[in-house]
Amino acid sequence: MSNFTSNSTAPIRPIAYCRRFQDEEHSMVNYASTLASIILNMVSCPFIILLNVLVIVAVKTRPRLQLMSNILLACLAGTDLLVGAVAQPALITAEIFAIAGSVNTYCKLHKVVDELEDQMCEGGNVVDYHGCEFIPERWFDIVFVLRTNNTTLYERLEQRVRILWDDLGRHLSSFFPAKTKPKKDWAPVNRNRESNMASGRTRPNVLVTGTPGTGKTVTANELAQRTGLNYINVGDLAKEKDLYDGWDEQYGCHVLDEDKVVDELEDQMCEGGNVVDYHGCEFFPERWFDIVFVLRTNNTTLYERLEQRGYSGTKLTENVECEIFQTILEEARGSYKKEIVHELQSNTPDELETNLEQIEAWIQQWSG
Ligand SMILES: Nc1ncnc2c1ncn2[C@@H]1O[C@H](COP(=O)(O)OP(=O)(O)OP(=O)(O)O)[C@@H](O)[C@H]1O
Ligand SMILES: [Mg+2]
Repeated sequence: MSNFTSNSTAPIRPIAYCRRFQDEEHSMVNYASTLASIILNMVSCPFIILLNVLVIVAVKTRPRLQLMSNILLACLAGTDLLVGAVAQPALITAEIFAIAGSVNTYCKLHKVVDELEDQMCEGGNVVDYHGCEFIPERWFDIVFVLRTNNTTLYERLEQRVRILWDDLGRHLSSFFPAKTKPKKDWAPVNRNRESNMASGRTRPNVLVTGTPGTGKTVTANELAQRTGLNYINVGDLAKEKDLYDGWDEQYGCHVLDEDKVVDELEDQMCEGGNVVDYHGCEFFPERWFDIVFVLRTNNTTLYERLEQRGYSGTKLTENVECEIFQTILEEARGSYKKEIVHELQSNTPDELETNLEQIEAWIQQWSG
């Protein structure tokens, strides 16, 4: 996709471009570059649509092509398709208005395109970012990822698909805000009321888990205060009672002794009425929990939160990657019954409040 450039190499933002366009001195230069941009976009647009549709259709309809790497490439083809089907036509229209002399219409239209792009990916945008990486990166993927069994490159490809579609989905949904808050279907509380009580507990045990920085402590702590449940922070408990099994040189931290933690908490958990906060969940006995919440935070927000905490280097990237790869969510889904595991977005104070209200209502319902 084109960026407007004059004699300088830096892209010109729309407002600057509009001023420049209105400036007679530059009108010839801008007229020529805009015309070139229209022609370039008009010629490339049908190919971009066609080739990416072919990639998607081929992977969708040919079972022998349905390798994970091809599926990932088809996902990237989906974002390129958006470039050809939405962004390029919008730009072409804007530029035609510019050439026809309606600079104001051009500026308005370009502002919409620009806002859309900014919405699509913080720190750049999906369209330009993807456009820039299109040729060298895609070549790299096809040659190296598909011809070799290089896990790092493969993971990188997967990571990129997640980032692109995660940001795209999240921001597109912000264009169509839900009128009413979606009602969470946490039905097991009603269906299994007898079995809830049969566990011998009169109050439920709740697990709040998620990648470090997603907000487990603020959520679980506040929840305990509002509901009167006991708040258990497994990290703090381990420190207090020295529930460790050695020292991890690589990460520079104590290794949790999971058996000791389970022994320590067993009686209290059997009584019920606890909110447990920990960034892992597979070592807890399944019978302990009546509901499991996995907090989720978008990559950029999480990155900023962890950076503010002073994380950097591998520690920072590994934690963000853990969120990108949904490690904790997969762990929870693999360790507990599917119907008791719930994903909760925890990006903003509003989301925090909504989560708290909904969990509180669930606890009241459970306890009767
Ligand atoms: N929904 C939210 N909206 C805005 N800020 C949030 C939200 N959730 C958490 N935060 C902020 O993010 C930071 C990290 O939160 P918190 O300490 O609760 O994370 P955590 O999941 O407990 O991390 P760790 O696993 O390292 O203990 C805090 O500064 C907190 O105020
Ligand atoms: Mg915490």
